[in-house]
Amino acid sequence: MTFQEEIKRRRTFGIVSHPDAGKTTLTEKLLLFGGAIRVAGAVKSNKIKKGATSDFMEIERQRGISVATSVMGFEYNSYKINILDTPGHQDFQEDTFRTLTAVDSVIIVIDAAKGVEPQTEKLMNVCRMRKTPVIVFVNKMDRPAQDPFTLMDEIEEQLKIKVRPLSWPINNGPDFKGVYNIFNKSLKLFKPDIQGIEERIKFEDISNPELENYIGDDAEILREELELVEGVYPEYDNAPYLAGDLAPVFFGSALYNFGVQELLDAFVEIAPSPRPSFTEEREINPEENGFTGFVFKIHANIDPNHRSRIAFVKICSGEFERNKMYKNIRLGKSFRISSPTAFMASQKEIVEFAYPGDIVGVPDTGNFIIGDTLTDGEVIHFKGLPSFSPEMFRYIENADPMKSKQLRKGVDQLMDEGVAQLFTSQFNGRQIIGTVGQLQFEVIQYRLEHEYNAKCRFEPISMHKACWIETDDEDILTEFKKRKHQKMAKDKLGRDVFMADSKFILQMAQDEFKDIKFHFTSEF
Ligand code: G4P
Repeated sequence: MTFQEEIKRRRTFGIVSHPDAGKTTLTEKLLLFGGAIRVAGAVKSNKIKKGATSDFMEIERQRGISVATSVMGFEYNSYKINILDTPGHQDFQEDTFRTLTAVDSVIIVIDAAKGVEPQTEKLMNVCRMRKTPVIVFVNKMDRPAQDPFTLMDEIEEQLKIKVRPLSWPINNGPDFKGVYNIFNKSLKLFKPDIQGIEERIKFEDISNPELENYIGDDAEILREELELVEGVYPEYDNAPYLAGDLAPVFFGSALYNFGVQELLDAFVEIAPSPRPSFTEEREINPEENGFTGFVFKIHANIDPNHRSRIAFVKICSGEFERNKMYKNIRLGKSFRISSPTAFMASQKEIVEFAYPGDIVGVPDTGNFIIGDTLTDGEVIHFKGLPSFSPEMFRYIENADPMKSKQLRKGVDQLMDEGVAQLFTSQFNGRQIIGTVGQLQFEVIQYRLEHEYNAKCRFEPISMHKACWIETDDEDILTEFKKRKHQKMAKDKLGRDVFMADSKFILQMAQDEFKDIKFHFTSEF
């Protein structure tokens, strides 16, 4: 197979949803089709169950699972599929956001009864920002559901994207009869006991009275609704989907493996192969010969007996080859990657070659941080990896003076992993941890103790926002830092950060220093 063919057959995507909409179930059913797993139940949910925030064994167990299921690669027909898993719990959403920088498209799962939920909206915002093509899967049609037209309107309004149904449900809940696949003009009947293996019935002309034989009185309703669908929505066109302006919609029931193969078949056909990516210097085309990639995730200390880390590298261009020297641009140093792993069928195995769209796991002893660019020499810097804006802040203090070295190392490594952000106050030298959720503080404390043998204590701090400040005028910057010296801090890379304790203080500073830009994430 040529290099170009390898690229064209790759589909790298993420499945996202509000917790409980069915992301894990759908992922598992897709893996069954790909032969990546043989039995249902093999993919364990890596979500942290509600109310279990202090169940640390659970966190550990899930960290173990989530490394195994971080990337699930499998072959389907002649396609190479890479599913990138994203954590369900909202306290880990920045992990999800970063993973979304490594996908070429997204499937959003929506609960047919609940419709669009808050986290679905947030995730869609990230997709919209990046113009990521999105397919919507309306799940749980076997349960009483909202009217499909109402759902379509809700998706359009709340997710701010045009929709185009490519399948249509026939009733719902106990009366759910199946779906009509508009994309390939076929009928698929729902029988709860046979797990979706029933054949599709080719049904080009739905005015054919034979339809009544299959779905009885629902036939007439289906005809009316499909007529309305065709009247309301323009004919399906792949271009707006690829541009991120239109979401094709499918209906089904992941639990009953119903509508999943339809989704997968349409997905491989219409979803994009690896797309160009952007660096500060230039656009990178996947078909270029030079190897480029970036680190979007780091996992440390999965096995407590080995101080191991894995850096997840998304390949953006060129062919990746084992044992070749690749340069970490941030460090200006080259490394030989002798045991890169691929994630096939949720098992890790050493790979000799990998292609754009693929993710390779690089064993790391502390050389990589999230956002690092790897190339075969060219100096470029990938951009667009969001660093989240922390919403909660605490002072971190050493609770065991004999272990200060361990604490420093632990905090350092956890920050490299992207668990939270660290700021050092320039006023009193104290260290401040910023996170997006309460759970992260508990995770940090737990992992410091169990992985680094260090103890920490958090102390409350009243803080509203951390703002990275930027101006071309050195004098203004000096003046700002002098005036606000009690509120100035440095981030891990030594950049100036203004720690505003209230919305009001922030507004005052912005009014007072109009030539300074206040950024709420470190990527600007
Ligand atoms: P998530 O990853 O998006 O959080 O959702 P997950 O797949 O774990 O599904 C959440 C719950 O919804 C699970 O039930 C799952 O079995 C159920 N579910 C998923 N898809 C469907 C569907 O198409 N129809 C119906 N009726 N239910 C569905 P649970 O009881 O919370 O968990 P479990 O004990 O079954 O694992």
